[in-house]
Amino acid sequence: MKNKTKTSETGNGPALMPLELRQSLSRFATGVTIVTCQGSEGPCGITANSFSSVSLEPPLVLWNIAKVSNSLQAYLDAEYFAINVLNAEQQSLSAHFALSDHTLFAGIEFELSDRGVPIFPGTIACFECRTRAVLECGDHYIIIGEVEKHCSNGGRPLLFSDGQYGTVADSTD
Ligand SMILES: Cc1cc2nc3c(=O)[nH]c(=O)nc-3n(C[C@H](O)[C@H](O)[C@H](O)COP(=O)(O)O)c2cc1C
Repeated sequence: MKNKTKTSETGNGPALMPLELRQSLSRFATGVTIVTCQGSEGPCGITANSFSSVSLEPPLVLWNIAKVSNSLQAYLDAEYFAINVLNAEQQSLSAHFALSDHTLFAGIEFELSDRGVPIFPGTIACFECRTRAVLECGDHYIIIGEVEKHCSNGGRPLLFSDGQYGTVADSTD
């Protein structure tokens, strides 16, 4: 395997180039989630890989939403949101909820939880959260939620790395 190192650094030179920074950041492999909430105009869903755990006691998680997102206001206003963690077979669902479209839920299987947030069947985990804090940070907002309900299921995770989808090897592969 070739090891091609590219280095960028701030200092006396020019500022970091966003594209190069994005390339280095994309080396960090993540899972893939769809974060959902109930907006004033109906359910919202956005594919997000910025999800991270924050604290066990109290149970806190976070994700980041771009300021340019069409559904930003719905998430900033939402009392509750859900983190749907996708399995390896849900790549097309991930691609679907990465689209800018106001009819995203048409023809998609989901149910509304007791808290009124869309939950997808077949995910490997789900976290229903009450919004605890919203922090403006650069070109994104960080949304921190307190987990009120969660579940985990079998199946392999959908992964995202270097702009590509993948999964982990099954022990029988
Ligand atoms: C794998 C993947 C991960 C993404 N992660 C995020 C994220 O963490 N936060 C975010 O704001 N957008 C993220 N996006 C982009 C949004 O899904 C996309 O811009 C959004 O759904 C576009 O619709 P909107 O403008 O209506 O929000 C991600 C996209 C993909 C494919």
